[in-house]
Amino acid sequence: MTVGIFITGTDTNVGKTVVSAGLALVLRDRGVRVGVMKPVATGCYGRDERLISQDAAFLMEAAQNERPPLASPARFRNPLSPNVAALLEKKEVDVPFILKSYRQLQKHYDFLIVEGIGGLMVPLKKDYYVANLIRDMGLPIVIVSHAGLGAINHTLLTADAAIIRGLEVRGIIFNRVSVANYSLAEITNPKVIHDLSGIPVLGSLPEVEGLHRENCQFGRLKEVFRERIQVDKILGPNAASFQRI
Ligand SMILES: Nc1ncnc2c1ncn2[C@@H]1O[C@H](COP(=O)(O)OP(=O)(O)OP(=O)(O)O)[C@@H](O)[C@H]1O
Ligand SMILES: [Mg+2]
Repeated sequence: MTVGIFITGTDTNVGKTVVSAGLALVLRDRGVRVGVMKPVATGCYGRDERLISQDAAFLMEAAQNERPPLASPARFRNPLSPNVAALLEKKEVDVPFILKSYRQLQKHYDFLIVEGIGGLMVPLKKDYYVANLIRDMGLPIVIVSHAGLGAINHTLLTADAAIIRGLEVRGIIFNRVSVANYSLAEITNPKVIHDLSGIPVLGSLPEVEGLHRENCQFGRLKEVFRERIQVDKILGPNAASFQRI
């Protein structure tokens, strides 16, 4: 059975795509057949019938995948919460179709990386949130957070929302931490968050040199991710089967 991970975050713009791409690059380098998915995307561009999700494009480039319709099954133009974007565009978020695409994708890969949209409580449709989608996909999660002031509150709220909804939290990754001139909050927050939540901290990513989302350049992302993130803890009990051959 295909296994995978759902990359969520404390907020939009926190680094879910960068973390997902970093993981894809490292796993691909190990020889793992890794697939990627952005199940719902808003703020897409292009012609109506061929809307493009920049997140999905970036992830597919990282994983070298060629299944755009399955990897990005629900796309909306307006940069809004999916339920609102869908309403404005006289569409709806078709959850059964998303889950069908997910199951199809599973057949093609050993490991799937699924990037969420915003955080756990982003509504996809009435009474159905990103957290519900994760439950329906049956995936564990990684929470991407910042480490600066406010991170304790944002991260613990996300962890609580996950645990209450029965999600398995593999760990937390702090993104865009300073490598020089750390703020006091950045130095102290990861340990405080770990102590209060009991959730493993899987590492911190600094600002990655040469990373450019808009033209799909990864710069040193693969090397930095491998050095600083505990990839095997993301993989969980399946880590042994995804070692480099
Ligand atoms: N570690 C990093 N080094 C350099 N740039 C980064 C890093 N992390 C994020 N960025 C940049 O910050 C922006 C936001 O990151 P990203 O797109 O990964 O966030 P996101 O959580 O996926 O956002 P969204 O909610 O829109 O999906 C992007 O332009 C990305 O290139
Ligand atoms: Mg993203």
